[in-house]
Amino acid sequence: MMTTGLEAISFYIPRVYVGLDALAERQGIDPEKFSKGIGQEKIALPGHDEDIVTMAAEAAQLIIDKYGADGIDTVLFATESGIDQSKAAAVYLHRLLKLSPNCRCVELKQACYSATAALQMACSYVARKPDRKVLVIASDVARYDRDSSGEATQGAGAVAMLVSATPKVAEIGAISGLFTEDIMDFWRPNNRRTPLFDGKASTLRYLNALVEAWRDYQSNGGLSFEDFSHFCYHIPFSRMGEKANSHLAKTNGVPVDAQKVLPGLIYNRQVGNCYTGALYLSLASLLDNAEDDLGGSNVGLFSYGSGATGEFFDARILPGYRDHLFTQQQRRMLEERESVSYDNYAALWEEIDLSKGAPEQARGRFRLAGVEDEKRIYVDRNA
Ligand code: HMG
Repeated sequence: MMTTGLEAISFYIPRVYVGLDALAERQGIDPEKFSKGIGQEKIALPGHDEDIVTMAAEAAQLIIDKYGADGIDTVLFATESGIDQSKAAAVYLHRLLKLSPNCRCVELKQACYSATAALQMACSYVARKPDRKVLVIASDVARYDRDSSGEATQGAGAVAMLVSATPKVAEIGAISGLFTEDIMDFWRPNNRRTPLFDGKASTLRYLNALVEAWRDYQSNGGLSFEDFSHFCYHIPFSRMGEKANSHLAKTNGVPVDAQKVLPGLIYNRQVGNCYTGALYLSLASLLDNAEDDLGGSNVGLFSYGSGATGEFFDARILPGYRDHLFTQQQRRMLEERESVSYDNYAALWEEIDLSKGAPEQARGRFRLAGVEDEKRIYVDRNA
């Protein structure tokens, strides 16, 4: 069978963050509830001139600068914080990246899951057309109501993946385990800027979906638990990844090994939930931070989107993958950030009127300059 998968993977995280210690102080609670109880340290905060399009452009430009855009004829943009009910974010992105006009551009939605649908579709497509490549984007701003239980799990960021029939980083396996059930664990009606959710119930539905998807993966002939060196999970907060890792081990009757999940949680702890990108930020974290060379090993991936759909699948990490990562740049991006006070966080959280132009807050090359006649104006500072 044709090999398909990731030729490259990169991400972008905004420059500013608020520490969860500041949130704990404001709420008058023990900071260890956040650092240990939910396993998070920072919430990445986009500027008012950043959104899913600018973050996606930053992440994807890294790949295009290194590999070029030849062969890319499809952009699949996964998000649940869409900026328009009609026009796909992929179309705005397409212009910023100067991709060929002979390209299809669409947006996909199913809560945090849709980037996995995009990745699977991309692999199937390049298997049929091996001379083409697909740019898969997962970009989101996870914003909850202030003083809600979800507030500490906010975050933002974008992951870009170049999918081709000549993967250099990871081969995506053809076998998946799938599970869908119609539930209201987390949802955001069209008239709301923030989601509604049943926090504790959502964590239980997530674990149930994991087991159901795993069982389906097994019945479809998937690898056995022992075949995996590591697992990456959808990470709304890092403790959820640890809980998933324990739950799956117990389901399989094997001892829990925290090392199978910990390298994949390092970046997510520093960023927060980035919805569609969270699983793939975890994969980037594993690839950058695993001490051993993972070439030739199998990684199990579980994608979850509330509402709910789950998918378990596998990736075989390819020998030499480290030459195709952006490890130094990505680490620097996370290190060179600025902490803001609770009050500055609250100001960034609020929506502002962009019709007179957006304040210059983005650190990157691309920004949302403002909104004129209800049209979003994106600029490339290098143009
Ligand atoms: P909560 O009420 O803030 O916290 O809700 P809690 O009281 O349940 O405490 C959390 C943990 O901290 C507990 O540990 C406490 O014992 C511990 P656990 O029982 O879980 O092992 N704790 C402490 N530990 C150390 N020192 C202390 C301390 N105090 C307490 N002093 C909840 C937590 C996750 C529910 C909340 O953050 C929330 O509602 N989050 C939003 C929903 C969410 O993230 N759900 C996850 C599953 S659904 C999903 O992943 C999909 C999603 O990404 C959306 C999509 O698909 O689009 C969300």
